[in-house]
Amino acid sequence: MSALKSHADRLRAARLADLVAEPGRHDDLVFAQAGVELDLTKQRLDPAALGALVDVAEQRGLGEQRDALLSGAIVNPTEGRPALHMAYREGANIAGSDQASLVERTQAQTCAFAERVRSGDYRPSGEAIERVVNIGIGGSDLGPRLVADALALHAGSGPEMRFVASLDPSELALALAGADPRRVLFVVASKSFSTQETLMSAEAARDWLAGEIGGEAAGAHFIAASAAPDKATAFGIDKDLVFDFPDWVGGRYSVWSAVGLSLEIGLGPDAFAAFRAGARAMDQHFATAPLGRNLPVIKGLTDYWNRAVMGYPSRCVAAYSARLGKLADYFQQLEMESLGKSVDHSGAPSGTPGGALVWGGAGTEIQHSFFQWLHQGPDTVPVDFIGIRRHFASADPRERALAANMAAQGAALLAGRQVDPAAEPELAAHKSMPGERGSSTLLLEDMQPGPLGALIALHEHKVFVESVLYGINPFDQWGVELGKVLTKGILDGEVSSYDASTQALLKRTGFQTR
Ligand code: F6P
Repeated sequence: MSALKSHADRLRAARLADLVAEPGRHDDLVFAQAGVELDLTKQRLDPAALGALVDVAEQRGLGEQRDALLSGAIVNPTEGRPALHMAYREGANIAGSDQASLVERTQAQTCAFAERVRSGDYRPSGEAIERVVNIGIGGSDLGPRLVADALALHAGSGPEMRFVASLDPSELALALAGADPRRVLFVVASKSFSTQETLMSAEAARDWLAGEIGGEAAGAHFIAASAAPDKATAFGIDKDLVFDFPDWVGGRYSVWSAVGLSLEIGLGPDAFAAFRAGARAMDQHFATAPLGRNLPVIKGLTDYWNRAVMGYPSRCVAAYSARLGKLADYFQQLEMESLGKSVDHSGAPSGTPGGALVWGGAGTEIQHSFFQWLHQGPDTVPVDFIGIRRHFASADPRERALAANMAAQGAALLAGRQVDPAAEPELAAHKSMPGERGSSTLLLEDMQPGPLGALIALHEHKVFVESVLYGINPFDQWGVELGKVLTKGILDGEVSSYDASTQALLKRTGFQTR
């Protein structure tokens, strides 16, 4: 770390504007792979610091640990599992024939079923399906929801996709508004098939449908995507309508698996396959490229540098495409549920800050909400501008304007503005901006399934890279368990051991246990 600290001291003292102007910087700090370009030239980094980061990664055994991940080794020791979500990419050939055959079987099953629904062949109540409602939360919602939104223009003639994650009854009500009950298909997406929110919403959906078409008929309108198929059949879903996947696919890494079934139905198997193929291309790059020219490695090292070395506590995801409006939410779970930990593999304090707080939104809307804070607030927050390369030369002036706004915001964060007090003595200080604030620019070649898959795979792997540097397990999530236990206690009226504030809240509101 001492080498990194000396680079950090040197680069803190440098003017970012001078760094950006250095010759050759664009050759050294712009990377492209699988339809995704990563431009680090506005980051408070340089090739020497990046080289030092690569050295640290090599000292931490990143190459070997990457190979272990890709080979199906137990990389999630607290749950005793590998992490082989890459097995579900298009054309992936993972280690171990038993795993490969399971993947191929379930992919063939979901593809065939999606085709049956899209062709109108699957008619549970005599009518073709027009609306698919995905009931799930966390990784069983955020991935499908993001991809459905991103590729909405690719949906063609498929059934429309709706998503229910919240317990709030309004979400299911809105998802079903105007629906013909005979033409609705519910996908209950839940790896554990024990998540309270999902099961309560699925029960409410089943009650609604039974009220509309009768309990007997309702059953065939429910399918499941789960790593707990027995629980899905116990819920009442026909075993032939349960599409399973192994427990070595983590929830926040599961969009590629049967959890993506609503996408395969709504977008069509070809678009879903192209999405998975883009991720496969990024996997192959991650597996083979030298660490110093490896996009997931470079991205992971950059985010580690900003968080653990430069000390920036958060990172802003600014997606300049309305179709990527859900991207910040998706990265929040992927990164914060993976890297928001304080102990290492041995259970000892990790001694590092863990991953950054990830937040953001879609541009240009965010320029009219939190960019004031980014430009004139006291904190420096590295921004990932994520845009569409095609927009820069588009025939549509709106797309060009979108690209121009994204480029301008990165330039403004870097340059700032110093208003001359002599010219405006009253307002100079109010109008000035410090600048010298860094950012990255990631460009998808276009809003297409392949580059989107590659972008997501890039971030899955960059999280793994950071986990190696932090020495933590990115694949478990024990921190979410206590909330679930305390919720049950409240619902059961067993709160005598709870803090006085919570007990008073429940008493003051007349909380009804059951
Ligand atoms: O947030 C905890 C978590 O287990 C996530 O990791 C997961 O994506 C989500 O809840 C939903 O879990 P399941 O898919 O098992 O319903």
